[in-house]
Amino acid sequence: MNKPERTSVSRSPISRRTFLQGAAATAAGAAWLGPAIVHADGSDKLRVGVIGAGGRGYGNLKVIAEHPDIVINGFCDVDQSAIDKTKKATGMESREFRDFRKMFETHAETLDAFIISTPDHMHAPIAMLAMQHDKHVYCEKPLTRTVAEARALGNAALGKFELALQMGTQRSARPGKRAAVNALRSGKIGAIKSVHAWTDRPGGWWENGKNYGGGEDPVPKELMWDEWLGVAEKRAYQKGLYHPGAWRGCRDFGTGAIGDMGCDIIDTAFYGLGLTAPESVTADVAEGGTDQKYPDKTMLTYVFPKNARTVGDMTLTWHEAGDLPDRGAAGIPADFKLEPNAVVFVGENGTLYCHMDGVNKLFVDGKPQDLAANTAAPEEYPHIHEWVDACLGFGECYAAFPFASRLTETVLLGSTVASHFPGKTLEWDTKAMKVTNHEPANALLSRTPREGWAVEGL
Ligand SMILES: NC(=O)c1ccc[n+]([C@@H]2O[C@H](COP(=O)([O-])OP(=O)(O)OC[C@H]3O[C@@H](n4cnc5c(N)ncnc54)[C@H](O)[C@@H]3O)[C@@H](O)[C@H]2O)c1
Repeated sequence: MNKPERTSVSRSPISRRTFLQGAAATAAGAAWLGPAIVHADGSDKLRVGVIGAGGRGYGNLKVIAEHPDIVINGFCDVDQSAIDKTKKATGMESREFRDFRKMFETHAETLDAFIISTPDHMHAPIAMLAMQHDKHVYCEKPLTRTVAEARALGNAALGKFELALQMGTQRSARPGKRAAVNALRSGKIGAIKSVHAWTDRPGGWWENGKNYGGGEDPVPKELMWDEWLGVAEKRAYQKGLYHPGAWRGCRDFGTGAIGDMGCDIIDTAFYGLGLTAPESVTADVAEGGTDQKYPDKTMLTYVFPKNARTVGDMTLTWHEAGDLPDRGAAGIPADFKLEPNAVVFVGENGTLYCHMDGVNKLFVDGKPQDLAANTAAPEEYPHIHEWVDACLGFGECYAAFPFASRLTETVLLGSTVASHFPGKTLEWDTKAMKVTNHEPANALLSRTPREGWAVEGL
């Protein structure tokens, strides 16, 4: 399926799959093996299943629908009203499923790829099951709800080289963000001494302070509540507390403010500086937080080991709920307007500011400078189209699971682990996947799925 001219950016015509096919053909003394996918009916379109059709699922659907080489071949949602709304808004028709396990059990052969846009706690079981069925996956950020799940998906991906496995971080395709990555990689501001990232979440986006687990409301007839809970322990339905969207503040389902926005903001540090895992993380909890709910405001301090682009013991601090870094420490002029979601890199020769949608500013000695041409980025090509192309044998996924799992592990070490132990610096041994100085923290790296919801490998 040789269609690079369909993309608006120049891509390597040699992809993972065409390379493998070409190599196999050469070895066998045969000719080019043909397109990556040809179905029994002669169609060579990617047949996509959409799991989680409401909320972000709808957003993903709108963008992927513009790719000429896909066909939507199934909606799966535990809430019938979400499917109905999405169908109405997009005008799309497809088969409907309520339970993703049945979708795999009975219809796997009619689907090549899945978009997962469910709440965070169900990402890993669905993605792992899809990979075990040899399906391509586009899974929304953060990749998983637990550190152990992220590790498991990252490792599993290394054994599934033929699959296109992308975490949904569409902002990473913004030209400005790619330019910031180029600037960091080219050493434009020297070795990085510190990174400061922040978000306005939860703010008015959702409310962490809710009384989770404190009542019971009738389950709406369109909603399959037990299936919504999935791997999580059984609990009563409470209107407006979990579904839709409000689950983010509840530890059983969501991943807090950094879980929601970290993959979109500190990914620039991972791409640009080649970070892999911190040595330690400390949570300073300003307000709230229980075993049930995330704190209303946490500041996280990660320390990273030295690498070629950083000084030793580089810190990355995460601020949330509108908290901002100290401008002086970050080398930002007092009159510069900070966007509500951004990251700043403090280097030996200047400061690079990068808004999450990729509007960059460079400051040297507190004065704005031009970002030179060598940090320019290509025109934007939609992240989810990049994934479709990779499924069809063209190019690679920018946020592929092995990368996404490392980024997600770091994010989750802060929210799902450290925020339980305010003020305690947790020493992290990434190779052993273990907190070495505080045993209770290790119990929070994983969770046992509810009976009937276990997926092998997780
Ligand atoms: N990339 C982005 O910019 C972006 C933006 C928003 C959300 N997200 C991510 O997308 C995911 C969903 O967030 P949201 O705001 O749309 O949440 P939401 O609660 O509004 O929507 C989730 C949808 O998934 C459905 N669902 C729940 N459990 C399911 C299951 N087991 N099987 C099938 N469907 C199921 C729900 O019924 C609902 O329609 C989250 O992981 C979030 O972090 C990403």
